[in-house]
Amino acid sequence: MAANKQLLIGLSLSATWMKGDGWRRADSGIEKMNSIDYYIDLAKMAEKSKLDFLFKADYLYVSPQMIGDSANYGSPDPTMMFAAIAHETERIGLVTTISTTFNPPYVVARQLQSLHWLSNGRAGWNIVTSIEGAENFGDSPMPSPQERYAKAGEFTDVVRKLWDSFPSEAIVIDRESGVFSDKDKVTAIHHNGDFFSVKGPLTLPSHESGSIPLFQAGASDIGRNFASSVADAIFAAMPDIESGVELRNDLRRRATEHGRDPNTIKVLPGLYFFLADSREEAHELHKAAHAHLSMERRHASLKSVLGLDLSGLPLDSCVTAAMLPNPNQPVRSRTHAELLRRFITKYQPTVEEVLARPEVVGSAHWVSVGTVEDVLNDIIERFEGGAIDGFIALPGGSEKSMNIFFEKLMPELVERGLFKSEYMGFTLRDHLGIS
Ligand SMILES: Cc1cc2nc3c(=O)[nH]c(=O)nc-3n(C[C@H](O)[C@H](O)[C@H](O)COP(=O)(O)O)c2cc1C
Repeated sequence: MAANKQLLIGLSLSATWMKGDGWRRADSGIEKMNSIDYYIDLAKMAEKSKLDFLFKADYLYVSPQMIGDSANYGSPDPTMMFAAIAHETERIGLVTTISTTFNPPYVVARQLQSLHWLSNGRAGWNIVTSIEGAENFGDSPMPSPQERYAKAGEFTDVVRKLWDSFPSEAIVIDRESGVFSDKDKVTAIHHNGDFFSVKGPLTLPSHESGSIPLFQAGASDIGRNFASSVADAIFAAMPDIESGVELRNDLRRRATEHGRDPNTIKVLPGLYFFLADSREEAHELHKAAHAHLSMERRHASLKSVLGLDLSGLPLDSCVTAAMLPNPNQPVRSRTHAELLRRFITKYQPTVEEVLARPEVVGSAHWVSVGTVEDVLNDIIERFEGGAIDGFIALPGGSEKSMNIFFEKLMPELVERGLFKSEYMGFTLRDHLGIS
């Protein structure tokens, strides 16, 4: 069993019909896709179920292969969406995604601290180094993963120093003497590093509830090292339980090496759920959401994830480790490539099985399809197996699937003592158990 007795649960702020072909369903609300009201309703449902936080991934480029038949090619800026949602909710955490590759740290420190104020201490930052998008920020090609992570390390350091540069204790508000803030407590940071030069201080004080929790996504060797040195939680791609146990043990070990208590880093994989009253109905939902993924598209995805071309082979032939390309060849995401390499090496699957893997048909996330009981058992298996500290629910299927999640699955988790029935605190730090 994982070190925590109860699961931490977040919800990705996206509609069920944003996954794959789901938008084509007659009952999809696709016309509402950029209406904040839809997301506010979703946020309220999540808060009613006492979920720990809302989460939103973000990309600074438009995926060309998604333009045309997909609704999921981009989205409004999540930090701005969370600013609106902050006003309509009271307790639920708000974890926004901001890339360290393309933004200036001063602006990011300020945006995040602003969200922290607007939400009364509920902001969280999902740190990403991004896979694509360099062309939107100049003529240079995408920096190497090493450079991106080196920059992410310095970026995060600058952001934290800026948050500390204007501590909440500096605010005095003494009407009598006319002292508003203690200027000796507000200090420049004079940062001069390999990537950034920032004097500081920040334009606003830090929120009195404490510093903003950090999430991280990206699990290559350097990604893990970075996450285990700074992150409170990792948003993980975890297609199966084995990869989860390996990741969680490894992150905990690395955190210890960094002098941290291993329980302070939470492993929270994305969990795509397709829920229905019967197993058949749920599998139908899942199948329909992936109907656009022709064999050609799957082969193209496999080539892009792993650099492996299986298009000439029959579906029932075996794929072995010997067929894998050189591990040093550049790939879009080493996290995704490594997950698939390990699966192929261990199981020698058929071509058909490889083409059905989450790394190929989606973003390598755990997919659970079935009745409440089925998905519940899946969650319990991973929790008891030591693969997870909780999960970030990624809605898939139909609106009914989402309703089943809130009305049946969540209460069942509470009933079994695996999730809280009431909020114990007010801030995201409280929900994550950060002292
Ligand atoms: C589960 C997961 C979610 C990610 N989400 C985002 C995202 O929302 N936006 C983004 O720009 N990059 C995202 N990334 C990309 C990572 O930030 C990182 O750039 C990429 O995985 C390469 O790092 P790696 O070599 O450690 O895999 C994500 C990666 C993973 C594994």
